Amino acid sequence: MTSRYVAAKNVFIDSIDIDDYIELNSSMTAYQQLQHSMDKPLKMILLFGRPGTGKSILLNRIHEKLKHQKEIYYFDTPSPTEKEFFYKLFKVLTQKELPNNTEVNFTALVEFCKKLRGKREIIILLDEAQMYDADMMEKIRLLSDTRAVKFVVSLHKTEDEDLIAKAHFQSRIWEVIELKNASRDDQTAYVHKKLLKKNLFEIANSIKVKDMKLIHQVTEGNYRECNKLMFTIFEICEYYDKNEPGKLNYTHIPKKIIEMAALKLGHLHV
Ligand SMILES: Nc1ncnc2c1ncn2[C@@H]1O[C@H](COP(=O)(O)OP(=O)(O)OP(=O)(O)O)[C@@H](O)[C@H]1O
Ligand SMILES: [Mg+2]
Repeated sequence: MTSRYVAAKNVFIDSIDIDDYIELNSSMTAYQQLQHSMDKPLKMILLFGRPGTGKSILLNRIHEKLKHQKEIYYFDTPSPTEKEFFYKLFKVLTQKELPNNTEVNFTALVEFCKKLRGKREIIILLDEAQMYDADMMEKIRLLSDTRAVKFVVSLHKTEDEDLIAKAHFQSRIWEVIELKNASRDDQTAYVHKKLLKKNLFEIANSIKVKDMKLIHQVTEGNYRECNKLMFTIFEICEYYDKNEPGKLNYTHIPKKIIEMAALKLGHLHV
């Protein structure tokens, strides 16, 4: 028989699938902020946060919610070349098919957008914008200056590089929304709701307040780190369930297992 922990483990595979979205206090606030900013006459909005704080899933959620009311597009990973990016943008803006490999004339695209002003309002959600270079960002700005296209630029913040400080972002962005690591309450809700969504009631119950305190401490409230840790916890549980069930307690995840998982991921050092 398959261990009950297999299903639990799979709940925490990283995903930005909109069906996996969970309403949390922080995500709700960010969603509302973003929506509010999008309604303002801003040309560029920055969505900012450390890796794994939920930027991509939030953009997907906003896209899903608004796609029937607004002209909104989600660009996931940046196109490998500038040529491909503008090709993709051209298709979205003109709503025309283009022969493959057509080189888009950027000046013509800007002129085209100028004519759209007041007729259409297009929103482009640009994920992973740290991968666009200064030249691309400048062109994106020129397009946004036409006021026919508004960009939500999502950027991740790394330890060693303050990307917003980079000139090409700083002088172009009008409003910043920052996603932070989760509070303990939000992270607890996240873990429980994810399990409950898959009807894993007993397992959700076996993760107590005390455990969440440790999990939060270890992952610093980061959603991606939390996914990894939960996955590893259930992987260890699955092993014991199959091989040494005596070491498991179905009503409560042993603290030792959480520590073993944290150790395995390099969060705890002995
Ligand atoms: N509100 C939420 N509902 C469901 N899952 C979430 C939520 N917030 C974060 N997550 C989960 O956390 C993980 C990380 O989120 P996401 O990929 O959106 O982060 P990110 O900020 O885009 O990271 P990166 O900067 O590395 O691209 C995802 O697997 C997602 O499942
Ligand atoms: Mg992302």
